[in-house]
Amino acid sequence: MKRHTIIGAKLLKGREETFSAARAIALTHHERWDGSGYPGGLKGDNIPLLGRICAVADVFDALTSERPYKTAWTPQQAFNFIKDQRGKQFDPYIADAFISCKNTIMGIYMMYRNGQYGDMQYDYLNMDDNPQGWLSWNNSLSIGIKHIDMQHKYLITIINKLYDAVESGNEANIVIPIINQLFEYGNIHFKSEEQVMRDYNYPAIESHRILHEDFINKVKSYRQLITEFPLVAIRDLLIFLREWFSRHTEKEDSKIAKYVSMASEEVQAEIGAQRKAG
Ligand SMILES: [Fe+2]
Ligand SMILES: [Fe+2]
Ligand SMILES: [Fe+2]
Repeated sequence: MKRHTIIGAKLLKGREETFSAARAIALTHHERWDGSGYPGGLKGDNIPLLGRICAVADVFDALTSERPYKTAWTPQQAFNFIKDQRGKQFDPYIADAFISCKNTIMGIYMMYRNGQYGDMQYDYLNMDDNPQGWLSWNNSLSIGIKHIDMQHKYLITIINKLYDAVESGNEANIVIPIINQLFEYGNIHFKSEEQVMRDYNYPAIESHRILHEDFINKVKSYRQLITEFPLVAIRDLLIFLREWFSRHTEKEDSKIAKYVSMASEEVQAEIGAQRKAG
């Protein structure tokens, strides 16, 4: 098993910079800061920087992934492990830098984990970063966590699309795809947001979760109504969505934002204290 580092490096033949970087990573990503790693038993700064960076990323990914011999750790457990191993298994500065990017890392984690994001992932990556229209994005809506903001922007985009269709009398053609997108949004976004609430020990998680359930049920009932009374139901759906946005996204979700910013300061303070101590 340990030979995968050497075999990997041998496979990556090539003179270009990319290949030499890939070779360094393959060869040294299991070296440990304290010299107890393999294959070279290199210590500290003798381990190439890329190897030290990938060591942290590789362990985070391995811990949070399910394997035949273990269940997946939660991101929080993996962050704790990395913190615990700073200066032992990992370069302390890289471990600190990794932990200070927690929000960004959680964004990447939520986007790619378990393939649960399906087609929507594509939409995310190509979506409008500053949607404007019937509903508009502004920075006061930010929760301070990138992937949640992106999902909220996505909701704005969906609602505006429905509004534009109603305005141009084209709603009958797009309402079913819109309903499907709303379900997809609900499945992905609520899961992500509830995970954030768990990660930050948000106290009102249960009542917030019930509001999310209500949204899904409401969209289900609109799906039914639209088959019976399309013209009225589509307009009602539009009003419901705008109200949801102002009542839930702007008000309820911003309460999570306050919590997250408080907790992020604590994480920063902890890192600062450790720097001083170490
Ligand atoms: Fe490896
Ligand atoms: Fe939300
Ligand atoms: Fe929410």
